[in-house]
Amino acid sequence: MGKLPYDAYIFDLDGTMTQSEPGIVKSVQYALDKLGVEGYDRQSLRFVVGPPLMYSFHQVIGLSQQDAYRAIDLYRERYSAKGWLENSVYTGIPAMLRSLKAQGAYLAVATAKPEHFARKVLDHFGLSKYFDGLAAPRDEDESRFKERLVRRVLPQGARGCMVGDRNLDVQAGQACGLDTVGALYGYGSREELEKAGATYIARDVEHLSRILLGDQPLSPGKFITLEGCDGCGKSTQHHLLAQCLEEMGHQVVVTREPGGCPISERIRDIVLDAREEGMSDLCEALLFAAARTQHVHQVIRPALAAGKAVLCDRFVDSSLVYQGVGRGLGPVVEKINQAAVDGCMPDLTILLDIDPHAAMARRTAASSPDRIEKAPLEFVDRVYRAYRELAAAQPQRYRIVDAGGDPRQVFARIREIVAAEV
Ligand code: TYD
Repeated sequence: MGKLPYDAYIFDLDGTMTQSEPGIVKSVQYALDKLGVEGYDRQSLRFVVGPPLMYSFHQVIGLSQQDAYRAIDLYRERYSAKGWLENSVYTGIPAMLRSLKAQGAYLAVATAKPEHFARKVLDHFGLSKYFDGLAAPRDEDESRFKERLVRRVLPQGARGCMVGDRNLDVQAGQACGLDTVGALYGYGSREELEKAGATYIARDVEHLSRILLGDQPLSPGKFITLEGCDGCGKSTQHHLLAQCLEEMGHQVVVTREPGGCPISERIRDIVLDAREEGMSDLCEALLFAAARTQHVHQVIRPALAAGKAVLCDRFVDSSLVYQGVGRGLGPVVEKINQAAVDGCMPDLTILLDIDPHAAMARRTAASSPDRIEKAPLEFVDRVYRAYRELAAAQPQRYRIVDAGGDPRQVFARIREIVAAEV
């Protein structure tokens, strides 16, 4: 087996891992407007992303030192309220960090962002879990010395590499004796990065991954499933979670069961058709499993192998509880599904937990019931209990989320789980 080209990787945050321009630029505009500063080009404020704010306000925009301090306060007023959320992770960053980590690399962040903001952003966008170290200024003065920040997190004697999108990042890395990679997709220019003497220049995140991983492969992606009784609000959460995973920089394949590819969608039409009253329970179970094996083979497994995140609305657990327990078919359902999933199991399953009768009432009020939803209430009760038992038996994979409240609050909890674990 080969080795990574470096032992330690130090990353800048803004413009290297996150596209934070909207929130930062809007907050700078807000500060300048409040101070009544005119005569600057609103469209060309990107240069403020990355370097310390004092430098941008004082040296570049030309405010007096006193006004620059006031501008920083005003900036923070808007940035802490909403600017920090006007941000997203570049697509491909989590897959790259996960792969470096899986190969045993030491990873750290060195940023000019104040420490509490940096932590907030890293937590919210699901990046904290990859990093062994964070160096961020604890006061205004420290933000001027990126080299010091890099030194603070650099392990003794490591073969290291600094990744950043601005000349200050490249210079700080060099001063610490590191190879440097200029992230050209960020907020600096090729000229700026070349002039600073970057060892490599990465056109995009894919190129960056190849430089940082050398001949080592990308790790497989993460498989996330949502489960719950009919009417638990799964579709809304599925939609919000898909968006959020993209914001966190995952390449996401959004799919569902039964269905997810042409053959399986055709099976879905048959198995859910309310007119097919004569379908036997075993036929139903086999059809769900048949749809599943095609879906795993054609969609899920290839996507995971390519490092993508797969988000699936229902998976094998639906069969275990609906057919295995609800219909009372028992172990045969496990057996056929073992063959159907062929070892491809979710890394994380979120169970939306809600009173099953209220959920069913909500569901049937919304549209006419499909064949499965026509089952009696005892069936719904069995399904609900089976879900709870399955979740309790597999605590490492399952997270139970109370789905009874406001959908936004339900999602806030899901987001927290995903940020920490996916
Ligand atoms: P779904 O499309 O999730 O319906 P809804 O959005 O209304 O919850 O699922 C369709 C139905 O199929 C649902 O009642 C659960 C059932 N089902 C099974 O019985 N077994 C299975 O393996 C799967 C995937 C679904």
